[in-house]
Amino acid sequence: MKEVFQPNLLSSKVAFVTGGGSGINQRIAEQFAEAGAAVAIMGRDRNKAEAAASLIREAGGQAIGLSGDVRNHDQVSAALYETNKEFGRLDIVVAGAAGNFVARATGMSANGFKTVIDIDLLGTFNTAHAAYEYLAKPGGLVLAISAVQSTLPTVTQSHVCAAKAGVDMLIKTLAIEWGQTGIRCVGIAPGPVGDTEGMKRLAPDGKASWDRILGHIPSRRAASQDEIASLALFLASQGGQYINGTIIPIDGGQTAVGSYEFGSMLDDSIKKDHLQAASA
Ligand code: COA
Repeated sequence: MKEVFQPNLLSSKVAFVTGGGSGINQRIAEQFAEAGAAVAIMGRDRNKAEAAASLIREAGGQAIGLSGDVRNHDQVSAALYETNKEFGRLDIVVAGAAGNFVARATGMSANGFKTVIDIDLLGTFNTAHAAYEYLAKPGGLVLAISAVQSTLPTVTQSHVCAAKAGVDMLIKTLAIEWGQTGIRCVGIAPGPVGDTEGMKRLAPDGKASWDRILGHIPSRRAASQDEIASLALFLASQGGQYINGTIIPIDGGQTAVGSYEFGSMLDDSIKKDHLQAASA
């Protein structure tokens, strides 16, 4: 029988992961390294990026930690240059760095809104744009970490919804512009993922918030970081090479259900405001 999956799915590949110092992106970096890739982890906090890289090295993998803010094109370019200098090539970039806080539009300043647009959307553009010169070859991959908010309007998440919808369209457009070079551009849109910084913000009061969120998800559970990373690994591996220009939800069926008033669990006054406005 033909063996479909090889133990070293990404051997001889080099991956660059933004925001790889924690959460989903750290697990993606680890799974890529476990599959044989050399990995560069970039983050605003160099110590965090280096700590994540050293865990990979201790486990026998190849990794370096680099500092850089995805909002700054020059910093991303410099980190990519370092990666190419260290490992001699670059095949995959994961635009994973993201920002989030829970606030209604009236509860954030224009700068608060812009900050998330800058990290998520401009950051994804900067990462893909600065990496183009290294990736433009068969096997090149831009993988963006989007979120279900890109298609589900979500109360308290106007900034994230707008940013992630932009990410999805950016990825699809780049896939068309860059496809003939060999680069693929793909997004992953996770729903809730256990034990992440993002979900700590979205479910601040623990079990009560989680129960409410999971009640809207057909699979009635959150994803594990490993499940998200496994999808990323598949997309980067031989089996994923014809997947291009699309955003793949990994959400336990959440987007099949549609939007719900997520924010109301954090701020019951939202509902009250709507009701008062309707009866006025
Ligand atoms: N409610 C409303 N506005 C908020 C806010 C909140 N909870 N948290 C931050 N902001 C606003 C700030 O007030 C500021 O606006 P102002 O200058 O008009 O006051 C703006 O957002 C930028 O905040 P600042 O702390 O200076 O930005 P930063 O670049 O240091 O941090 C964040 C970016 C706000 C996204 C921060 O939460 C962060 O660093 N997150 C990274 C980790 C993360 O979010 N992970 C989850 C990913 S899903």
